[in-house]
Amino acid sequence: MSGMRPTGRLHLGNYWGALKNWVDLQEAYQCYFAVASWHMLTTGYDDTSSLLENEREMVLDWLGAGLDPGKAVIFRQSDVTEHAELALLLGMITPLSWLENNPTWKEQLQELAKSKREKMLASGPTQEAQPREAEAREELRTHGFLGYPVLQAADILMYGAEVVPVGQDQLPHLELSREIARKFNGLYGEGTLTVPQPLLTETPKLPGIDGRKMSKSYGNAIDMLETTESLSKKVMAAYTDPTRLRATDPGHPEPCPENPPGCSVYALHKLYNTDWPRRGDECRAGHIGCVACKKLLLPPLEAGFAKFRERRASYASQPGRVEQVLDEGRKKAKAAAERTLEKVRRAMRLR
Ligand code: TRP
Ligand code: SF4
Repeated sequence: MSGMRPTGRLHLGNYWGALKNWVDLQEAYQCYFAVASWHMLTTGYDDTSSLLENEREMVLDWLGAGLDPGKAVIFRQSDVTEHAELALLLGMITPLSWLENNPTWKEQLQELAKSKREKMLASGPTQEAQPREAEAREELRTHGFLGYPVLQAADILMYGAEVVPVGQDQLPHLELSREIARKFNGLYGEGTLTVPQPLLTETPKLPGIDGRKMSKSYGNAIDMLETTESLSKKVMAAYTDPTRLRATDPGHPEPCPENPPGCSVYALHKLYNTDWPRRGDECRAGHIGCVACKKLLLPPLEAGFAKFRERRASYASQPGRVEQVLDEGRKKAKAAAERTLEKVRRAMRLR
């Protein structure tokens, strides 16, 4: 079981960091993949106008990448309202200290408060930065946001998930899911809930086109859906190795003290071009210029995008297809969720 918040179109960081793994796992496991709409609300409750559109775009990227609704259960969290009941019940046994000490929460609160303040400042008079940051923090200190990991625990425990494919950043959340499951079993009966294991994606490091971490908010991402033109434009402008002034200067393709983030073009060669070791050797020897090296990346990169584009477009062109996928997923997820909830209600002597 895994999920993603519907932030809209995905980028290559999302693909190589998580989605690729999901596509592989659906062959070996019964998988449940949730569009985590309610998790989106934990921080984005003040503007929900693009939620549905973002869900659709994300699901299209999932399907384009090869998630198969015939194999995996693909559903919207908010369609399976059983998640709310389980989250409520798990909330009863979750001490506040577990949530308040969650490093992800503390970090996110800080980050979000900072960016909200910046937005406020950009749109108004620029005094009172401190009070505004405090105000933004208060806006985000909601019951829902603090309870984010409880809702996530409900997602996971609902399907008796044995493994949860996630990135490093989700480990604190997953540890909380495990603790909540153990506490529940201790109180109401061993074996009622399955204690999940993280399945860490070995995330190949994929920097954005400016050398920083690839992120939608930095504007440095290569989207999964790029046209031939936009793709080539981004690659030709991408960060390489600032120590190279001439094509004959020895280059540093890998992250190293001379080029700490590493060349972002080389990172893509490694993922898309079977000939990547040669590019690295030529670069280190000063036998190739960055422009030539970038041009050699375009054909294999384009080939990798072509299959995705075609599959995505086919789903997008069938009227009501995405809705149909989510509807079938909802039915399957609901059936499984109802079984778990019945077990939980009985264990807690609510039935
Ligand atoms: N918190 C996850 C993220 O931000 C999204 C998520 C929601 C999730 N429910 C989940 C991940 C269940 C794994 C399992 O990416
Ligand atoms: Fe990067 Fe290629 Fe330039 Fe080397 S030659 S720095 S690998 S773009």
